[in-house]
Amino acid sequence: MHYVGFAELAAAVSNAGGLGIITGLTQKSPQDLAAEIDRCHQMTDKPFGVNLTFLPTLTAPNYPGYIDAIIDSGVRIVETAGRNPQEYLPKLKDAGCTIIHKCTSVRHSLKAQSIGCDIVSVDGFECGGHPGEDDVPNMILLPRAADELSIPFVASGGMVDARSLVASLAMGAEGMNMGTRFIATKEAPVHDNVKQAILAATELDTRLVMRPLRNTERVLNNTAVQRLLKKEQDQGADLKFEDIIEEVAGVYPRIMQHGDIDAGAWSCGMAAGLIHDIPTCEDLISRIIAEAEVLIQQRLSGMTR
Ligand SMILES: Cc1cc2nc3c(=O)[nH]c(=O)nc-3n(C[C@H](O)[C@H](O)[C@H](O)COP(=O)(O)O)c2cc1C
Repeated sequence: MHYVGFAELAAAVSNAGGLGIITGLTQKSPQDLAAEIDRCHQMTDKPFGVNLTFLPTLTAPNYPGYIDAIIDSGVRIVETAGRNPQEYLPKLKDAGCTIIHKCTSVRHSLKAQSIGCDIVSVDGFECGGHPGEDDVPNMILLPRAADELSIPFVASGGMVDARSLVASLAMGAEGMNMGTRFIATKEAPVHDNVKQAILAATELDTRLVMRPLRNTERVLNNTAVQRLLKKEQDQGADLKFEDIIEEVAGVYPRIMQHGDIDAGAWSCGMAAGLIHDIPTCEDLISRIIAEAEVLIQQRLSGMTR
């Protein structure tokens, strides 16, 4: 997660029994990423991963350099997202990396499987960030993925608690990925205003922006988002990225670090409506596991008596 996935959060998630992920491109250069991975190694001896996002940008980041930094720093779990990661797979696989590719459709999941990805993270329409353009929610997308895939997958988008985990398992996933939920944790290194905004939000408070550019992003509604949506409405099919640059480009440091939560559009999932506290990652994950056991052993086993 851009400007959220720093070493502090990745280490806290891994120390709590999850798989923490550092956001590769939040680090401005491969050298910075190597330093961030080093910091994370100092905070945990558990495995963690690095996300590499291939999104449309005006100037492409130095992906080969980031990949070298990941491999040379000893990370062996890479979450890829955005466009097809095929050209980078041979190097990552030769280094022994496990690849989790994030997909928003069955068709992209099958493609990921066919090019040699090990795991898919299936991101439903509910998710914070980029849900793709198909708008299929997880009640449909996850069982569809289970029907088609032979590689394992995790459920992503709208996941917050034991109910999410047990439902994901029931629908064929091996586990779940949480984005928005982890922002509202004690260890998330973001301004308290961001955490409070998530607590205050309901499931009705996200909006989809950049749909006319086929780069749809689910964000928390705010004044900048309202301005952006007005531009989308006014410009219609003529909308260009340059028209909305003020609302989307370079806004994350101002929001996540300085707490200026109206500075622009920032990713947030519908899951915000289910988030009511700011626990430690350890408390959050332990609670999920304990409540999942109760759900399975009491509520669900009771169904078969
Ligand atoms: C603030 C924020 C920033 C994100 N940045 C990225 C990113 O840079 N790359 C990426 O692959 N996904 C990104 N995501 C998506 C998450 O990794 C994850 O797929 C998504 O949050 C799951 O949905 P949920 O928020 O409902 O849990 C971001 C999500 C949020 C909320």
